[in-house]
Amino acid sequence: MVASKRRPRRPSSLFAVLAASSALGVALAHARPAPHPGLHPAPRTARNPAPLPAVRNVELTLNIAPARVSLRPGDTCNVLAFNGQVPGPTLEFREGDHVVVHVHNHLAEPTTIHWHGLHIPASADGSPLSPIPAGGSYDYAFTILPGSAGTYWYHPHPHHRTGYQIAKGLYGAIVIRAADDPLAGIPEQVLVLSDNRFTPAGEVDFPPPDSPQGRLDEENGREGPVLLVNGRVMPTIPIRSGEVQRWRIINASAARIYRLALTGHEFLYVGSDGGLFERPVPVSEMVLATGERVELLVRGSGAPGSRAVLQTLAYDRYDPHTRPADWNAPRDLLTLQYSDSAAVAPPVLPSRLRVVPALDTSRAAVRRYIVFSQGLINGKTMDMNRVDERGRLGATEIWQVENVVGMDHPFHLHGFQFQILERNGVPEPFRAWKDMVDVRKHESVRFIVRFDDYPGKWMYHCHILDHEDHGMMGILEVTPTRR
Ligand code: C2O
Ligand code: CU
Ligand code: CU
Repeated sequence: MVASKRRPRRPSSLFAVLAASSALGVALAHARPAPHPGLHPAPRTARNPAPLPAVRNVELTLNIAPARVSLRPGDTCNVLAFNGQVPGPTLEFREGDHVVVHVHNHLAEPTTIHWHGLHIPASADGSPLSPIPAGGSYDYAFTILPGSAGTYWYHPHPHHRTGYQIAKGLYGAIVIRAADDPLAGIPEQVLVLSDNRFTPAGEVDFPPPDSPQGRLDEENGREGPVLLVNGRVMPTIPIRSGEVQRWRIINASAARIYRLALTGHEFLYVGSDGGLFERPVPVSEMVLATGERVELLVRGSGAPGSRAVLQTLAYDRYDPHTRPADWNAPRDLLTLQYSDSAAVAPPVLPSRLRVVPALDTSRAAVRRYIVFSQGLINGKTMDMNRVDERGRLGATEIWQVENVVGMDHPFHLHGFQFQILERNGVPEPFRAWKDMVDVRKHESVRFIVRFDDYPGKWMYHCHILDHEDHGMMGILEVTPTRR
């Protein structure tokens, strides 16, 4: 397929349309009733025992191209965008959907789209092994398996250029819904957090890697002083007293770790990377590393007409040598504005959300040790032609990821959700599906994972984009067992 150099004004294709997006970038995938001949029913696994819902075929088109948008009040700048938007449109799928995404790369360099956290075939993973050349196109085809409802995101993943392309605006949210969502009907907000740095001329500041700032970014991970929520500075979210909202929060920052707190409010922590927990957990703040997602219930306990501010508080992920001077200053992210209307009666919230089956540690025949040092994994930098770890399809494994240096390195595994067993020997307090774990300074984390359904080559890496781009990444190859 040859990509047209002409950039359509509106995202559209022969088969599918992305509906106009709302202020928060929510787009609906358009469904076609007829089954798509190129797709097969989802594999059934122990993790995904539910019968498949009615098959829905979803096709959509993403054009990756330069655009000019406003990220700061009163200013526009040159960006790279999905369908002209920063963040890209929020993609909404249902469990069971057969999805085809037609991607056209109108950039002057290779790119990919990686569907961060989705359990899908390696051919659709958009890893650095499968670049879409400048001017080229690719159709990503995958099935959303039952059990995967949650909050995910998509971003480019080309070799060495992921940090640059995301900094320029290429990131977007994915929401996957279950037919039996226990929180259905609660109003939602999708909040994509990012930060950026701008030149005096108002353009995204991404210095050459061999400049002093470039070297500092490579070490520390690139941060910027401008904090954005859904590509805007300090947006306002309306709420009514008594109302409960479900916030799906995605950390799309290159390196910044957020410690979120909402003045005068507590959260109910109900889910993370791979969807809902078994029950809600009350928390007063929430640490969110790069690449991670959380689902929080915000209970509108404020009085009519009042307001609250979502802030990020001090979190010391840094090595003392590269720690920014203002690292511990709280920063405002958004305003929660109560309407003047009288309070509504709060909804009754379920105390049980869903069952999260435990992966069986007695079945874990293989243990792996991954050591993070500064810029290296097990002493090596990424080699696209090397396989670092070899696993068997269907196998259960326990991985220990150890950080031997004095700054946090958030670990990410492609393709498979895992369950954290313990951090520094302390058992994880409750079960959750995760594809990210922040491995803190001198911390050691153990998780269990099962390589269900999809063989292939899968990346694992530090999700500080500057570290990833400079080789803090390895390749796991999962192969079917010979019979
Ligand atoms: Cu969010 Cu390998 O990526
Ligand atoms: Cu990923
Ligand atoms: Cu790192």
